[in-house]
Amino acid sequence: MRQKFVVGNWKMHTTVAEAEQLATAIVEGIGNEDRGRVAVCPPFPYLALVGEILKGSRVALGAQNLYPEAEGAFTGEVSPTMLLDLGCQYVILGHSERRHKLCESDLFINQKVRVALAAGLEVILCVGETLDQRNGDQAEAVLDRQLGHGLAGVSAQALARLSVAYEPVWAIGNIAHHATPQQAQDAHAIIRRRFGQLFDEESARALVIQYGGSVEPENAAALLSRPGVDGALVGGASLNAAAFLAIVRAGV
Ligand code: G3H
Repeated sequence: MRQKFVVGNWKMHTTVAEAEQLATAIVEGIGNEDRGRVAVCPPFPYLALVGEILKGSRVALGAQNLYPEAEGAFTGEVSPTMLLDLGCQYVILGHSERRHKLCESDLFINQKVRVALAAGLEVILCVGETLDQRNGDQAEAVLDRQLGHGLAGVSAQALARLSVAYEPVWAIGNIAHHATPQQAQDAHAIIRRRFGQLFDEESARALVIQYGGSVEPENAAALLSRPGVDGALVGGASLNAAAFLAIVRAGV
């Protein structure tokens, strides 16, 4: 039985004071009786601060990116070792904003995935098609490619520390255009099937697949109750503690 997994991706938002307030409100509001896994991914500069606030709670800390080297002359970059040192358990990789706005290739994302897993981090690998790709009947091919390339060389032993987030690019930050529960369910089934081809059926059954793209308290229950939709990667709504907690509860 896969556990629901809800992650807040704060993206490039919050000040120090807002990050402190948001993390505190989430820790205070999260019930110990709630089931499922929960994590928040603040911007790099606030990881230490938020990590301190999360200590002793059941909310885990994650990062939004990393550079695939342990250390070295990589000005401005952050290594997996540093993330672990700061108490991060998770890292989001392959987010569409990094693929499209920062031109990250499948090859580079694959390096990050392999290095992060080897370092002991848990990886949330984002995949998803653009609107043009969906309209051009390319969505399945895009998911196939992003999974195949992104996961090349990943060992079967590491799969327990990997989840996949299906984030259709057209649905991000656009409440009017979130995927319907059926669209999410269908895409998750494609991802699970492809994962089974890449690895094996048992790993595919165990794979946690989150949906991301305008998840809000209003649509969370409908999305997260669909078979194969194992959680959410939440952007905008994760900046409001009450909304984020409502989504966490919708999933359990
Ligand atoms: O990582 C989160 C996703 O990009 C979704 O963002 O909930 O603001 O649409 P959103």
